[in-house]
Amino acid sequence: MKMTVAVDGPAAAGKGTLSKALAAHFGFAHLDTGLLYRAVGAGVLAGGDPIKVAQTLEPAALDNPALRTQAVAEAASQIAVIAEVRQALVDFQRDFAARDGGAVLDGRDIGTVICPDATVKLFVTASAETRAERRYLELVNAGQAADRAAILQEVRARDDRDANRATAPLRPAVDSVTLDTSDLTADQARARAIAIISERMPQG
Ligand code: CDP
Repeated sequence: MKMTVAVDGPAAAGKGTLSKALAAHFGFAHLDTGLLYRAVGAGVLAGGDPIKVAQTLEPAALDNPALRTQAVAEAASQIAVIAEVRQALVDFQRDFAARDGGAVLDGRDIGTVICPDATVKLFVTASAETRAERRYLELVNAGQAADRAAILQEVRARDDRDANRATAPLRPAVDSVTLDTSDLTADQARARAIAIISERMPQG
């Protein structure tokens, strides 16, 4: 049977780090679905039409390191409210999830919309302050300019937009397990998540 792990949660909750570690542990493939929205956001910043960019997106566009900037994150959050953009990205995500050998997908609506039948659904969260601090350190470590207060404000604005949009709003799937990482190190979060997934794996 196909094994799909859905990892959803708000901005900078640690989904990416956790999902990568889970994929490595279980030998699954990993898709950071935020990159799809970031690639569309980057295309729009370059003057493209969001729906056209989404409909013609090539997988190679996901490898661009420029997708990691705050400007692109903000643009991604804005185009992510457009129903036609989200629709255009569904097949790519579902095909990825259905691959043999298992897959971990992280995003906002994986357990609710993209893979409602996922084998395991995690909702990874942390306080806005913790998430803003993590994002700040991530940017500083990457050599980018960063302002703590501005990042906290941006995290809150994105939370608000993600949670309140009409199409595929961010919310835990009813059958998801919530993992609050506010007081956990990355290693502790990884250990908890592995335990949750192992418990729910078919044939034990
Ligand atoms: O890494 P971070 O959590 O800051 O952002 P991301 O996961 O790369 O996603 C960037 C933006 O894309 C988010 O603010 C969401 O608005 C949007 N997104 C979405 O709507 N649905 C997804 N499955 C993934 C991302």
